[in-house]
Amino acid sequence: MSKNIAVIYVSRHHGNTEKLVRGIAAGTGIRIIPLEKAFEENLSGYDAVGLASGIYGFSFDPELAAFALQTDKLPHKVFLVYTSAMDKDRFALEMSKKLEQKGHEVIGIYHCKGYNTFGPFKLIGGTAKGHPDEEDIRKGQDFIRRKIGLAMQK
Ligand SMILES: Cc1cc2nc3c(=O)[nH]c(=O)nc-3n(C[C@H](O)[C@H](O)[C@H](O)COP(=O)(O)O)c2cc1C
Repeated sequence: MSKNIAVIYVSRHHGNTEKLVRGIAAGTGIRIIPLEKAFEENLSGYDAVGLASGIYGFSFDPELAAFALQTDKLPHKVFLVYTSAMDKDRFALEMSKKLEQKGHEVIGIYHCKGYNTFGPFKLIGGTAKGHPDEEDIRKGQDFIRRKIGLAMQK
């Protein structure tokens, strides 16, 4: 199953999202692709593709969003993965809605905290230090096996 899943990621701040998707890939065998390499990939060959980034200014990375919303190479089933300082569900709402308006089925969303030193938070040593941690990664692996695995059987 996992061979047919890929995640395209952007991780600009501390490599938090990259750490998360690498850990998920190591435990599940999914493929991870940095955004800059995604343009040359035949993504329609995957059963499901995830889009992963940090949250910057309440949103997914704008280049990842532009790619996802403009390309015709993504499969029907997509999912979202993100790390953020505040770890709020609402950060995925806009992206999810736009993907559905484009005709995709958003089959799952996984998020966890990510170490943040943006702006004034640097002065206090940052927030969510150490995240994603091992538990965040383990839960991300479970998300792929259960939630995404199940959605792909439908
Ligand atoms: C420019 C910038 C804007 C950010 N905006 C938010 C935000 O709106 N909400 C939030 O919870 N975290 C915010 N963060 C924190 C990041 O989402 C968090 O550190 C994330 O794990 C970064 O992922 P990355 O290391 O993969 O880039 C921001 C960080 C940066 C650098």
